[in-house]
Amino acid sequence: MTKNELANISLPRHIGIIMDGNGRWAKQRGLERSEGHKKGAEVFRVITEYARDIGIEYLTFYAFSTENWRRPAAEVSAIMNLFRDYLFEAQEREEENKAKGMRIRYIGERSALPEDIVKLINELEKNSADKNAITINLAVNYGGRDEILHAVRTIAKKVEAGEIKAEDIDLNHIDGNLFTAGQPDPDLIIRPSGEYRLSNFLIWQAAYSEFWFSDILWPDFTSDDLDKAIIDYAKRNRRFGGV
Ligand code: IPE
Ligand code: IPE
Ligand code: MG
Repeated sequence: MTKNELANISLPRHIGIIMDGNGRWAKQRGLERSEGHKKGAEVFRVITEYARDIGIEYLTFYAFSTENWRRPAAEVSAIMNLFRDYLFEAQEREEENKAKGMRIRYIGERSALPEDIVKLINELEKNSADKNAITINLAVNYGGRDEILHAVRTIAKKVEAGEIKAEDIDLNHIDGNLFTAGQPDPDLIIRPSGEYRLSNFLIWQAAYSEFWFSDILWPDFTSDDLDKAIIDYAKRNRRFGGV
C-alpha cells in the first residue's frame, strides 16, 4: 500500500497469521515438505518487514503448534532448524532490528524447545524489550489451550497462597497471565491455505477478531495479499455485541 492509501484506512493494531500450507506447496512442486517450510520462513521475513513499514504494531506468527510434535521427527527438526536460523540471524542483525524498533517476543511453552534455542529467545527478548515500533510474537510450541491452562495454574497458586480470593478472579487476571499479557487482542487473524479453523491459535484472544481466509498457500503469500486482508478488514463493521 502507498502512504496515501494507508492514510485513509483504519489499520488493525494486531494481526495474527497462521502460516499454513507449506507442505502442500512443496508437494505441488515435487519437493520435500522441509523445502516448503524453508520458503515459508522466507515469506515470514518479508511480511515482517512489510508490516513494520506500514505501521502494524503487533504481529503474531503461528509457526509450530503444541500438536505439531505429532509430525515425523525429521520434519520437526527441519522446522526447529529454520527457527534457530532465524533467531541467529536476528541476533546478528540486532542493531539493525533495534534501529527499526522491532521487539521480539516468544509465546508458547519454551521448556520443551532445544536449550540453545531457548537461550537465543531469552537474549533476543531481553535485548529488544524496550523497542516499540512493532512487536513480533513468535508462536512456537504454542497452543491456546495450553496457554489458558498455564494461566489457570498460575492463578490457582495465588489462591492457594491466599494472595487472592476465588471470587475476586476476573477477566483481567486471565488476560494478565496469558503469554500475550499486556498486548491488545488480535484485530485480524489471517489463515491461508484454504483451511477454515483456528487450530488452537489464540483461542482466548480471538473472541472478537475478524478473520480473513484465503486459498493461497503460505509460501506464495505476498505483501499484496496482506494489503488485501487489511483492506477487507477496514470495511468490516465491528460491533463487539453492541448495535
Ligand atoms: C504450516 O504448513 C507449517 C506448520 C504447521 C509447522 P504445513 O506443514 O501445515 O503445510 P500443509 O498444511 O501440510 O500444507
Ligand atoms: C496450524 O497448522 C499450525 C501452524 C500453522 C503452525 P496445522 O497444519 O498444524 O493445522 P491443522 O492440523 O491443519 O489443523
Ligand atoms: Mg497445515
